[in-house]
Amino acid sequence: MRMYDLILKKRRGISLTADEIEFFVKKYDQGEIPDYQVSALLMAIFFRGLDAEETAALTLAIADSGDRADLSPISGIKVDKHSTGGVGDKTTLVLIPLVAAAGVPVAKMSGRGLGHTGGTIDKLESIPGMKVNLEPHEFIEQVNRVKAAVVAQTGKLAPADKKLYALRDVTATVDSIPLIASSVMSKKIAAGADAIVLDVKTGSGAFMRKVEDAYKLAKTMVSIGKKVNLHTVALVTNMDEPLGMSVGNALEVLEAIHTLQGNGPHDLEQLCLALGSQMLLAAKKVKTEEDGQKLLKTLLKNGKALEKFREIILAQGGNAEVIDNTALLPRSSVQEKITVTADGYVQGINAEMIGNAAMMLGAGRETKDSEIDLAAGLVLEKKVGDKVASGDILAILHTNKSEIIEEAGKMVKDSFIIGEKKPGPIPMIYGIIGPNDV
Ligand code: URA
Repeated sequence: MRMYDLILKKRRGISLTADEIEFFVKKYDQGEIPDYQVSALLMAIFFRGLDAEETAALTLAIADSGDRADLSPISGIKVDKHSTGGVGDKTTLVLIPLVAAAGVPVAKMSGRGLGHTGGTIDKLESIPGMKVNLEPHEFIEQVNRVKAAVVAQTGKLAPADKKLYALRDVTATVDSIPLIASSVMSKKIAAGADAIVLDVKTGSGAFMRKVEDAYKLAKTMVSIGKKVNLHTVALVTNMDEPLGMSVGNALEVLEAIHTLQGNGPHDLEQLCLALGSQMLLAAKKVKTEEDGQKLLKTLLKNGKALEKFREIILAQGGNAEVIDNTALLPRSSVQEKITVTADGYVQGINAEMIGNAAMMLGAGRETKDSEIDLAAGLVLEKKVGDKVASGDILAILHTNKSEIIEEAGKMVKDSFIIGEKKPGPIPMIYGIIGPNDV
């Protein structure tokens, strides 16, 4: 088999066989095919696409490029959750204790953030002492004992995805639906859960700007799940403005604690209840979505979800006092208010610009080796639909880099669109795609 022939075949729009796909993934991962040939194939895939068989074959080839986690020693149905990435998305921080408090085991492997979307692992590291590198036997023991554990995903899971993603990142081939779908699903398959709930984001802060593209991505991933016998459900959700009010690692942990106390922002709580109830359904803990929502709301109200968060932090060596004394979280030296100079209503908040501003303030990584400032980020004071008058605070910047405040502040101000009329409501959840919908 020659790589040249595969590139030519795909360039002509002819489907590749599973053997051909496995060949290029394996050989590339082993360093036997050069970047320039794989780049050419990725670009051919970008323009020609992959059919359902090819997408499933690519997913399995990537999943099998490394270890597959064995979660069978954990009793119960293990449900994983994945978001395609958004600004201020701290749902995983809320969902891990919330779903575990309902009695469903959560064995979560998460990543670090790159660019303007943060990673759950970075966020958790803002809790003093929190260990995110557990040995496999410690991870399993903790899930059996506490019902939840969260660890940093190791390089041993789907290593070919790492190499392919890095190449896509520099060859303008990231935003291809079959390539995103196979990248996400390969890691989920390798992570070993029995069912997956996906949060597919759409809007100004997401890969999929258009709702119809987000549906296509959701359907592609649910189809892959169906082909490989992994129960998969996808929610298509709004990322046209940041989720909740806070963007930045410690600031998002603080907001997650407020949400677990039942005092979170409405959009964040709504999304957590929607994703969480799908996780309970997939784990066969409840029979209907409504029952799931009801149970989760009770666990927020009676303090059990918050107590579960405390247990998880303690089990992983963290200082659980942060829950009662949030001043123990890292805090930046500078807090700067950004005010509005017009009257009207907030029509939109460009989530990508907010994410980039948070990154400039120190909250994100520009390259994979850059250091992040756990205290940095920003807190929105206004959301879409809110009324504003000149002089009102739009957001508060948190940073240890005072030299960047002017530039970041302008970006935050520019990300707000102010108009005269109150805008109509935008749905948080556009739709749900299950195995019967594909
Ligand atoms: N997230 C992933 O894991 N992979 C992609 O290709 C895009 C988003």
